[in-house]
Amino acid sequence: ESDTQTFLFEKNPNPVPASEREALLQNPGFGRVFTDHMVTIRYSEERGWHDAKVGPRKGFDLDPATVVFHYAQEIFEGMKAYRLPDGGATLFRPDANARRFRNSALRLAMTPLPEELFVESVRALTRVERDWIPAADGAALYLRPFMFATEVLLGVKPSAEYVYCVIASSVGSYFKGGSPAVTLWVSENYTRAAPGGTGEAKCGGNYAASLAAQAEAIEQGCEQVVFLDAVERRYIEELGGMNVFFVFNDGSLQTPPLTGTILPGITRDSLITLARDLGLTVREEPYAIDQWQADAQSGRLTEAFACGTAAVVTPIGKVKGRKYGFTIGDGGAGPVASRLKAALLDIQNGRAADRHGWLDRL
Ligand code: COI
Repeated sequence: ESDTQTFLFEKNPNPVPASEREALLQNPGFGRVFTDHMVTIRYSEERGWHDAKVGPRKGFDLDPATVVFHYAQEIFEGMKAYRLPDGGATLFRPDANARRFRNSALRLAMTPLPEELFVESVRALTRVERDWIPAADGAALYLRPFMFATEVLLGVKPSAEYVYCVIASSVGSYFKGGSPAVTLWVSENYTRAAPGGTGEAKCGGNYAASLAAQAEAIEQGCEQVVFLDAVERRYIEELGGMNVFFVFNDGSLQTPPLTGTILPGITRDSLITLARDLGLTVREEPYAIDQWQADAQSGRLTEAFACGTAAVVTPIGKVKGRKYGFTIGDGGAGPVASRLKAALLDIQNGRAADRHGWLDRL
């Protein structure tokens, strides 16, 4: 319970009224319904990490020359708090997010936040915002920890000051209408990350770099873009904001390996473990786009799905591109994706045994 000591608590004097909150929780969509409070912690070279606080959610007053506006020294995380059958709340593998946040900070030459402080901060905010966790299956309280450079300076160098913040948003499905299956657009003009770049860091810049390709996908009537590797433009890397898995007719699964250019997803990692628990073979090996098309057409590939904290497990029904066009299975949700999604949600919502010690009950 050390976070009650670490974090000063200032209650929002004007919280959203309970009746209004309940109405918002009925159909929250993704990333539009925000809670009443936020965490902030400041860093300066002189004082280290200080002023840890859970206070009313409000804007920042920043000088126009603040480093983050110019050089994008910014990182973030995505995680969820879930409702448990006994009415309690739980986080899912917050230590894994804390570790990744640290790695992202180091890649962006930012001062890393101590991992225990990260975990305490999301616990503290979740406890305060418990009533904002929606009860519906698949719905959750999405926590968005992020950190940005706040020194006022136009010189290109690592900032000497940072603000760390956590906001929370009640969410339902990431895709509109809870999409039974999404269509992907193969990006042949754009890549997401090159070897040696920031692909495995969770920095805002990676998502900014995905937007033109994502806009092309939308123009083509697709929900998400799929990126190929930047060197050979041949191997599948990941989607605009989620990892990808392939399922074969021998019951095995495959997902692109973590070679430094893709985001090391915590959902990705959890699904590898859950699939192996179910006795399935999982390979972390490169998979070529031409092979994907050939395997989908021959029937060797039976399913593909996207995964992430926001997307959970979302089946991929069709793939389109200038040179590509194919349907996966019958174009809908396949049995392996459905089984893995259920296994994951059952743990996260406290309906199944937490064999791997992933829950952090509050
Ligand atoms: C998440 O899955 O949490 C992300 O950060 C990705 C984004 C598409 C919301």
